[in-house]
Amino acid sequence: MEGIMRIPIIAGNWKLNKTISEAVALTTALKALVADNTSVEVIVAPPFTALSAVSDAIASSNIRLAAQDVYSEDSGAFTGEVSAPMLKDAGCDYVIIGHSERRQYFGETNDSVNQKVKAALAHDLKPIICVGEQLEEREAGQTETVIKSHVTGGIAGLSAADLSSCVLAYEPVWAIGTGKTATPDQAQEVHNFIRGLLTEAYSAEVASQICIQYGGSVKPENAAELMVQPDVDGALVGGASLEAESFAKIVEMAVSSQLRGWL
Ligand code: 13P
Repeated sequence: MEGIMRIPIIAGNWKLNKTISEAVALTTALKALVADNTSVEVIVAPPFTALSAVSDAIASSNIRLAAQDVYSEDSGAFTGEVSAPMLKDAGCDYVIIGHSERRQYFGETNDSVNQKVKAALAHDLKPIICVGEQLEEREAGQTETVIKSHVTGGIAGLSAADLSSCVLAYEPVWAIGTGKTATPDQAQEVHNFIRGLLTEAYSAEVASQICIQYGGSVKPENAAELMVQPDVDGALVGGASLEAESFAKIVEMAVSSQLRGWL
């Protein structure tokens, strides 16, 4: 739909990296570099152990906090898990759910993603729901089938109001940590397909408001060409988010793509 201005979201998924002091140092450096930004939502997702310290470090800044996972229950005998109320308490506004590494190594399924999404929403945390096909699936022509099952499975049972609090992230598994980025056309094609799925399930108006990030080897060098695509609304960044300068450059690219879109 023309004329809709989605605010791009640039999120740094730090994965299994950074001690508390390293996390605070990175955040402090980043805070200074993105202080002037008002047109892009900037998010950092440190490991659980650093959430609270990073929350203090970003106080009264324009950076928001995300966790990398959440459990579907609020409390109880679930050793090792962290719940949505706990993440809220630690200062999170967002939570990444269904990252391909969780699907691949930790048995995450569309059903568990859906339960986690509902738990997050119940506690006013915005889910960043990750979807993406593996290389063999793309090569076998199954990209749309896989994306459809990840998207419809992840958002099953959500009202339009619930969906409007969600962010989707398209991360082709073959592009994660490999240095191989999807071409801007490949990304746009899948993002447009996802928006079409949301249109079918809700309406064009609802679909036009949802932010769909791209993730997979996003770097300062390729961020601009991805983000000028009409359905690419920002980036979920792994490796390049571990240094303040490279992450801040991606934020700058998003700001200038945004300005170009508005002209
Ligand atoms: P890389 O940017 O390191 O490829 O990681 C992408 C990712 O998985 C973000 O969630």
